[in-house]
Amino acid sequence: MINNLRYDCVIILNNVLNGGAYSNITLKDYLDKSDLKYIDKKLVTEIVYGTIRYKLTIDGILSKFVKKLDQNDISTIILRSAIYQLKYLDKIPEYSVLNESVEVAKKLCRNKSGFVNGVLRSYLRNKKLIDGYKNTLQYEYSFSSWMIKLFKDQYSKNYISLMEALNKRSETCYRVNSKIISKKDFIEKFGDEFKIEDIDGFKNAIKIKSLINISQSELYKNSFISVQGLSSQVACEILNPIEDDVIIDLCAAPGGKSTYIAELSKDKCKIISCDVYDHRIELIKNSARRLKLNSIDYFINDATILNEKFIDKADKVLVDAPCSGLGVINKKPEIKWFKNISDLKEIINIQRKIILNASRYVKSSGVLMYTTCTLNKNENEEIIKWFLRSNSDFVVEEIEDYHFGNLYFENENGMVTIFPSEVNNGFFITKLRKN
Ligand SMILES: C[S@@+](CC[C@H](N)C(=O)[O-])C[C@H]1O[C@@H](n2cnc3c(N)ncnc32)[C@H](O)[C@@H]1O
Repeated sequence: MINNLRYDCVIILNNVLNGGAYSNITLKDYLDKSDLKYIDKKLVTEIVYGTIRYKLTIDGILSKFVKKLDQNDISTIILRSAIYQLKYLDKIPEYSVLNESVEVAKKLCRNKSGFVNGVLRSYLRNKKLIDGYKNTLQYEYSFSSWMIKLFKDQYSKNYISLMEALNKRSETCYRVNSKIISKKDFIEKFGDEFKIEDIDGFKNAIKIKSLINISQSELYKNSFISVQGLSSQVACEILNPIEDDVIIDLCAAPGGKSTYIAELSKDKCKIISCDVYDHRIELIKNSARRLKLNSIDYFINDATILNEKFIDKADKVLVDAPCSGLGVINKKPEIKWFKNISDLKEIINIQRKIILNASRYVKSSGVLMYTTCTLNKNENEEIIKWFLRSNSDFVVEEIEDYHFGNLYFENENGMVTIFPSEVNNGFFITKLRKN
């Protein structure tokens, strides 16, 4: 009999590695529909994330037994998933990984089941030798060499801990909808039932320890909570939306920040949420509807093109720029393999155009906030420095009065990089003020 759990892992991995799907979305869709026990869902999550995260190391191992690894073949996915379990997970018996992987191969690629069996048996015979092989950084942390070089050049003091943090999944954090209930009252009301933990030092952030499916829960359906990382919450709080503010969120989908900005202002500012993709605008609308927020207007708008209608209209403009996403590798490990160095160069031109246009929308004395979820100074500090060289009417405003709780961050003259950790992803925030 085929063990569905491992079969499903292979299907999900194939969707991500060969189909270009996002691991977090594919996995969530699968887990929401699945009736597996909690412990099995945890194992699926572990195998999927781990296999993607350590793909380079695993492929290095496989190359010792397979002359030319066919990257797009399903048998390669079966082998990768099995090697991950055999090398990195110590609680699963080797024979069950071997037998079940061969069963999965019989189902998905019958003519390759002997090959899968042979490769895995060879690995098990030579495992000690291979695992004891002298490690390079690439092999140990499973990052491509250009990414290791980038982290080493740019974050030389802590680039190893950075890679370690990016190789661990961070816990899911939520925010309480402060438009309808305070965090204190929320915890008093639901704390015991849903095993809610306060995240100290943050206005509205909580963790939920209960094992229920949160998106089906009354907390979610009744507008009390949203999933949002701490760094993103922090960015909205630093933006400090107040009643009657006109705020343009230029790259707004799926709407995490627009909706939190609305909640923080008690739904009393005017938010103009834009994105270049209409199907992604729908995601913002759905969130706002679920959270019963009325202060958001929606526009399909390409932020790289100047929109005359927005000029001098906003008290605050948020540019949560499209970026290389290196700070969210802990949540989407496939970014390790889907990005290349030329993507990083291309995105800079887009970011430059967006920040320039955004600056035109800010009223005198207003705020321009630039954020990314990447750890690449060329998309972060260097964009700000480039912008300031020709826009002397803007200055960086220090974020001194904001407390970052237990987040590990670096502040370079007001340009703040938050590093990834077990509670959040990597993030960059700079607040500029127009004179
Ligand atoms: C980092 S995400 C924004 C996340 C969002 N602010 C949130 O908190 O949920 C970047 C967004 O920029 C959008 N985008 C990409 N290119 C754009 C462009 N030229 N103009 C406007 N939006 C763009 C993408 O569709 C994506 O939704």
